[in-house]
Amino acid sequence: MSDRIAAAAKLAPSASLTVEEVLRVRHWSEHLFSFAITRPPSFRFRSGEFVMIGLPGGEGRPLLRAYSIASPAWSDEIEFLSIKVPDGPLTARLQLVQPGDPIYLGRKPTGTLVADALLPGKRLFLLSTGTGLAPFLSLARDPDIYERFSQVVIVHCVRRVGDLAFREELESQLAGDPLVQDQALLQFHYLPTVTREPFRTEGRIDALIDGGRLFGHPLTGAEHFDPATDRIMMCGSMAMIRDLQARFAALGFREGSNAAPGDFVIERAFVG
Ligand SMILES: Cc1cc2nc3c(=O)[nH]c(=O)nc-3n(C[C@H](O)[C@H](O)[C@H](O)COP(=O)(O)OP(=O)(O)OC[C@H]3O[C@@H](n4cnc5c(N)ncnc54)[C@H](O)[C@@H]3O)c2cc1C
Ligand SMILES: NC(=O)c1ccc[n+]([C@@H]2O[C@H](COP(=O)([O-])OP(=O)(O)OC[C@H]3O[C@@H](n4cnc5c(N)ncnc54)[C@H](OP(=O)(O)O)[C@@H]3O)[C@@H](O)[C@H]2O)c1
Repeated sequence: MSDRIAAAAKLAPSASLTVEEVLRVRHWSEHLFSFAITRPPSFRFRSGEFVMIGLPGGEGRPLLRAYSIASPAWSDEIEFLSIKVPDGPLTARLQLVQPGDPIYLGRKPTGTLVADALLPGKRLFLLSTGTGLAPFLSLARDPDIYERFSQVVIVHCVRRVGDLAFREELESQLAGDPLVQDQALLQFHYLPTVTREPFRTEGRIDALIDGGRLFGHPLTGAEHFDPATDRIMMCGSMAMIRDLQARFAALGFREGSNAAPGDFVIERAFVG
């Protein structure tokens, strides 16, 4: 029996997990890949949420990790963007998946990076580092977000140019997207920035804010963050979130939640 068939034989649905099939895999760099899986008809989520996924672990128990869903709530498939941690218990194996392979999917998505956790506003800033981009790929491809905000900006900060996953799609302002391409052409902006290699925009997000490089053409409105008009979501390294959270709180932004919507929301992209 091949390893692949043996793996399939070990996966069984449970009260908390379904077993899905890998449909596509895209390797972006030696550190990053993305993949799409089947979506069970009963699986409901809001764009921006995360869910547990995994493979069989030791002693017949599933080995699960939290993953942000990178596809929008209306999509037939579920897509993920993943790190490859060389000795990572899950990703050392997950990075080897191929179309047709089985994978566990949790039945209960959740999370705070959802439009419902924010008060109405004009500009939505989606600030990410590394795989923290994932929930924003979901939100930027959801038509609802363009009804709620007149401008939607993804800022993606990575170490190296090769880490700019989905760069082409985002640079094209989601051209060809079946549902949002018309709105995105007018309302969506993408600002990639690289910290450890030469690139057209260099530096961490806080440096871009300090240098005023987040604002101005093609964005309209104030050339600073304004709690009256701006809403913010942050996802990525804990250090980035902590630093920026303090800045936004000092400017009068209030953190939101599902129960009490506010001006900004956060989610760490990993435990580290
Ligand atoms: C709410 C939430 C959402 C998440 N969403 C995603 C996602 O969309 N994509 C994704 O790749 N991971 C995501 N993660 C991280 C994910 O749960 C796992 O940690 C990751 O898949 C690595 O698993 P592992 O078993 O190989 O290694 P682990 O033992 O889980 O991690 C080993 C170490 O690798 C580093 N690391 C883990 N994940 C990342 C990452 N994403 N970026 C940078 N360094 C990392 C940390 O230093 C960590 O201590 C999320 C975590 C949380 C809490
Ligand atoms: N190409 C690579 O070398 C590479 C790529 C991906 C992953 N990895 C591995 O994966 C792990 C995670 O790497 P990662 O690149 O996904 O995550 P990361 O180390 O958190 O870096 C992602 C981006 O966030 C920036 N950043 C870090 N702390 C910040 C803060 N406090 N405020 C603002 N910005 C901040 C980084 O800038 P700085 O560069 O200034 O720190 C970098 O541009 C690492 O252990 C690494 O070994 C390596």
